[in-house]
Amino acid sequence: MADSKINSLNYNGLSEKTGLVRIAPAFLALLLASAAAPAADGPSLEAAANDVDNVQSLQRGARNFMNYCSGCHSARYVRFNTIARGLGVTEDQVINNLMFNADKTFETIESSMRAEDARRWFGQAPPDVSLIARAKSTDYVYNYLKSFYVDPDSPTGVDNRSLAGTAMPHVLWELQGYQKANFREEPIPGQDDGASRLVFDSFEQMTVGTMGAQEFGGFVRDTANFLEYIAQPERSTRRKLGVWVLIFLTFFLIVAQMLKKQIWKDVN
Ligand code: HEC
Repeated sequence: MADSKINSLNYNGLSEKTGLVRIAPAFLALLLASAAAPAADGPSLEAAANDVDNVQSLQRGARNFMNYCSGCHSARYVRFNTIARGLGVTEDQVINNLMFNADKTFETIESSMRAEDARRWFGQAPPDVSLIARAKSTDYVYNYLKSFYVDPDSPTGVDNRSLAGTAMPHVLWELQGYQKANFREEPIPGQDDGASRLVFDSFEQMTVGTMGAQEFGGFVRDTANFLEYIAQPERSTRRKLGVWVLIFLTFFLIVAQMLKKQIWKDVN
């Protein structure tokens, strides 16, 4: 009787294991596919090279965002008091410098535009950007903001290399100036009927902005950095806590080992 119980226990344990083994490759494939996905569609991305622990960059990014983006975009999943904490500033500083359309620091970033107006003007409501840096990657945001180019056929006068046919106007034109995109013709690989396609070659500055290319790159990096921060404001805390957890576990392992020796020392 006892034997059969043990057998059935073992059997159950085994079948669970094989079940796991069976789904593991599928799970791995899914993981790999999702990691590769952003690279697969769209042009290759220049690294933003931002640092979400750089408090000064976050402060500049927050100011950029409130001045140039919050007119259209909300960020409803982050509160001003959370921003104050992450930026290393007091709530009063946030009230005086960042809160244009909110009264209380527990409020979130609301856009100043009504959704239906936005839809009428742009054909598409500007999305909430609380999580955009996680959804599309910080590098993507960085590249998107840098790659508006003149396109007379577009209703906004510009198109974007990261998001073709985008409804967002080139809101940073005063800073960056306008650029045009040069395309070159290339034969379509694997097709020998002489068909060709247009491939992006380079950007060419048409009008100068108030910032040089490098300064503008920094402006966009700070803004993307801020968007990465608000997408996961608890990240730094979690990391710091993680270190302490590991230290504690190591310490506890040593104590447990010593305790085990002590308890077993008289056996045998
Ligand atoms: C004049 C209104 C307006 C302003 C100001 C504006 N945006 Fe947008 N933005 C839009 C609209 C409209 C879209 C939707 C574009 C689309 O999906 O075609 C958009 C989309 C986006 C997206 C998503 C792109 C994607 O791939 O889905 C990001 C990221 C973004 N904006 C960032 C910003 C940042 C950062 C700023 C400030 C520097 C800013 N926007 C300022 C109107 C605006």
